[in-house]
Amino acid sequence: MTIHELDTPALIVELDILERNLAGMAAYADKHGLRLRPHTKTHKSVAIARRQLALGAAGLTVAKPGEAEVMAAAEPPELLVAYPTIGARKLARLAEIAKRTRLNVALDSMEAAQALSAALVAAKAEAGVLTEADVGLHRVGVTGAHALAQLIEVVQRLPNLVWDGIAFYPGHIKSLDEDGLAQIESLSETVAALADRFLPRIVSGGSTPTWAHSHRIRGLNEIRPGTYVFNDRNSVHIGSCEWEDCAASILTTVVSTAQPGQVIVDGGSKTFSSDRMVDGASGFGAIPEDWSAEFHKMNEEHGFIKTERRWRIGDRIRIIPNHICVAVNLHERVFGVRGETVEEAWGVDARGKLQ
Ligand SMILES: Cc1ncc(COP(=O)(O)O)c(C=O)c1O
Repeated sequence: MTIHELDTPALIVELDILERNLAGMAAYADKHGLRLRPHTKTHKSVAIARRQLALGAAGLTVAKPGEAEVMAAAEPPELLVAYPTIGARKLARLAEIAKRTRLNVALDSMEAAQALSAALVAAKAEAGVLTEADVGLHRVGVTGAHALAQLIEVVQRLPNLVWDGIAFYPGHIKSLDEDGLAQIESLSETVAALADRFLPRIVSGGSTPTWAHSHRIRGLNEIRPGTYVFNDRNSVHIGSCEWEDCAASILTTVVSTAQPGQVIVDGGSKTFSSDRMVDGASGFGAIPEDWSAEFHKMNEEHGFIKTERRWRIGDRIRIIPNHICVAVNLHERVFGVRGETVEEAWGVDARGKLQ
């Protein structure tokens, strides 16, 4: 099948770029002796998780139990749930997974640790715990070494929990300019102090914006980038990759040219998501075949593009979305292409697994 035969809107992944991104991150982690435990929230596909593991990933990362259930099928040596799991039903599901898979759970409260321990005891299972530290995002994670020491002590006393180390997420570092590099420097001091004090087996952090600087963060020994597999308009704007590293785009069709200087394509907020750019830039995507075009507005199923180019009804336009992770979650299938050929298609297996 060729790309021209695909119905639209369709999520397209250029396999050459995907393979380069996967291999590049694996080689970087290997070179610097870092464990790679990629966050699967970006691709949500068992097929890609398997490729990451085949390239040497030490495990996989997910946010929710539903994603963990899906990704367990890829048989990761270690599966990390890097999101506070709260609620008896969710914990019972994690405990079931822990019977089959070596599970790590990141948490930042005594309540979460106690409830996880109780669920594991009931299921006669065991899990590793990464105690979460806040290093500047102010989202989850305890603040300071004293609070972390108290949490570690709680985890170490609870049955069926093994304290495996520390997790953090440097999501506050969104650029690699002078300020961003200074933030990485200060992050390194914070992480090194925690690693020196607690001597954890695992110190897990690392995001796509910071990935190439991970080896400069002293004490860090595991990275969890997610977005790097596909990249997106944000990744390019913040300087973590170039346009040629963007593997994913959405193929759309021009359905109206009725307004002069404007085309309407067959995808809007239900195709791309409404996520804005993190650096405040306008628009909802980039159009490599028409760089000066502005994808400036969306309704649910309509994308409004201001352009000087004379696109015709039925023309296909490929658009690189602002934020690929949320866009992927809106699609059922992904089409892997090489040139004009659609070589494979895979399901977005963990799509909508929000619980
Ligand atoms: C806890 C956690 N770890 C890792 C990641 C992956 O980061 P990125 O999307 O920058 O690759 C995320 C992203 O949201 C995250 O929330």
